[in-house]
Amino acid sequence: MNCCILMGSPRKNGNTQALTAPFAGELERLGIGCSTLWLYDLELKPCLGCRACQRDWAQFGCVQRDDMQKVFDSVLACQLLVLATPVYSWYCTPPMKAVLDRLVYGMNKYYGEEKGPSLWEGKKVALITTCGYPPEKGADLLNEGLRRYCKHSRLSYLGMLAERHMGYGSVFMDREKERHAVEFARRAAAALY
Ligand SMILES: Cc1cc2nc3c(=O)[nH]c(=O)nc-3n(C[C@H](O)[C@H](O)[C@H](O)COP(=O)(O)O)c2cc1C
Repeated sequence: MNCCILMGSPRKNGNTQALTAPFAGELERLGIGCSTLWLYDLELKPCLGCRACQRDWAQFGCVQRDDMQKVFDSVLACQLLVLATPVYSWYCTPPMKAVLDRLVYGMNKYYGEEKGPSLWEGKKVALITTCGYPPEKGADLLNEGLRRYCKHSRLSYLGMLAERHMGYGSVFMDREKERHAVEFARRAAAALY
């Protein structure tokens, strides 16, 4: 079993990473290996909507030459996909959005002459997010967007862990958030077996 974490925060020591660390630590403790791709470190172009990927039902098939093939391969090889992102303007950060767009076409071969397969059908997906508003007002749209994204893609959405950042003058991480992250990891791990 392995978990692929797509980290969409630009801040290496930021809140989203601080919340994801105990989650990943607990998965590792349970024997589930975790690897993290820092999306801001990669070259990830936006989807062009050209539909070249729809001609090839066996692989990614994107014509753009950047680091997205690496992301695609890691996602395809994992059992648990974790999308970790701060909320930016009520959704995810730009590289995470680029990845979501390129995967929804590259993985789902629904958009060509004939309807093809979802290459990632049944994969488990979880969201870890942090936001300035209370989560029900800051992360609700992202949660709903990903719920629909997963349904459309025939993925199994495990839901979100969302925690509030009270402002740049305050310390984000505390014992309660750490406990939430560990509990979320246990729920995600249980869903894999
Ligand atoms: C450009 C920008 C846009 C943001 N937009 C929102 C938003 O729409 N809703 C919200 O609740 N918080 C918003 N925030 C607050 C961040 O989600 C919050 O500070 C988060 O914890 C930052 O995570 P990080 O430390 O991993 O970067 C925004 C922050 C930035 C920098």
